[in-house]
Amino acid sequence: MPDTLTQPPLSPLLTATGIAKSFGGIKAVDNAEIEVTKGSITGLIGPNGAGKTTLFNLLSNFIRPDRGTVVFDGEPIQHLQPHQIAQQGMVRTFQVARTLSRLSVMENMLLAAQKQTGENLWQVWLQRKQVAAEEKQSRERAIKLLESVGLARMANEYAGALSGGQRKLLEMARALMTNPKLILLDEPAAGVNPTLINQICDRIDTWNSEGMTFLIIEHNMDVIMSLCDRVWVLAEGKNLAVGTPAEIQSNPQVLEAYLGQ
Ligand SMILES: Nc1ncnc2c1ncn2[C@@H]1O[C@H](COP(=O)(O)OP(=O)(O)OP(=O)(O)O)[C@@H](O)[C@H]1O
Ligand SMILES: [Mg+2]
Repeated sequence: MPDTLTQPPLSPLLTATGIAKSFGGIKAVDNAEIEVTKGSITGLIGPNGAGKTTLFNLLSNFIRPDRGTVVFDGEPIQHLQPHQIAQQGMVRTFQVARTLSRLSVMENMLLAAQKQTGENLWQVWLQRKQVAAEEKQSRERAIKLLESVGLARMANEYAGALSGGQRKLLEMARALMTNPKLILLDEPAAGVNPTLINQICDRIDTWNSEGMTFLIIEHNMDVIMSLCDRVWVLAEGKNLAVGTPAEIQSNPQVLEAYLGQ
């Protein structure tokens, strides 16, 4: 029997349609759509100023769209706050990594694991053992994740002492702390040296094979081509193309959009 009949259909984890956002006169995102299938590594590319970061902000409700619908894991999420969306399992990193430089690397990691019993003081008193167990689990998970991005030996350093590339790795590891369903990465390879870029790609690949879904904005085409199953292209806020990396690479309109910038 052919594979297509035995495999379940690819189901969407994130679907956004008709998304629009203007800043003054600028249509940053103009009736755009995107879909991320479960288990995929999906790319989002486009020239500078195409609206990629704005689209991320709209998907995770850091900015409210003027129009459009976002469905995550079968539920509309536009009415949710960013932290509620994170609790539903969609987390993101930022183009300029947002780590807390006066806290240690480990503290940055532990801050992410907040869906814990310890948040409620009354419960803390009642469930001291459970809180201690959760804290231990969080530390163990943090160490494992830091090891996986090569930062375990820096666990007690101030995050401010890390290089730009290391901060990107820390932000990615921190995003994994809550075991999310979908991670949005905004330029994970930007400002990162080539050795670290390879390490980041390996990590993303491994996490993906463990079941994590990714949506990645990236200007580094080697990263996009080596990792992504499917690539969406934005230009001037609009969808320009969608396809496999090979299809996108040989699409004359995409080439033109990049050359025209
Ligand atoms: N808060 C804002 N206020 C006004 N204009 C904004 C704001 N955020 C983004 N823009 C504008 O919206 C457009 C899209 O910007 P955006 O940052 O989303 O692009 P991008 O595709 O992420 O670009 P890059 O690849 O350079 O990161 C740009 O023209 C930008 O100047
Ligand atoms: Mg951007």
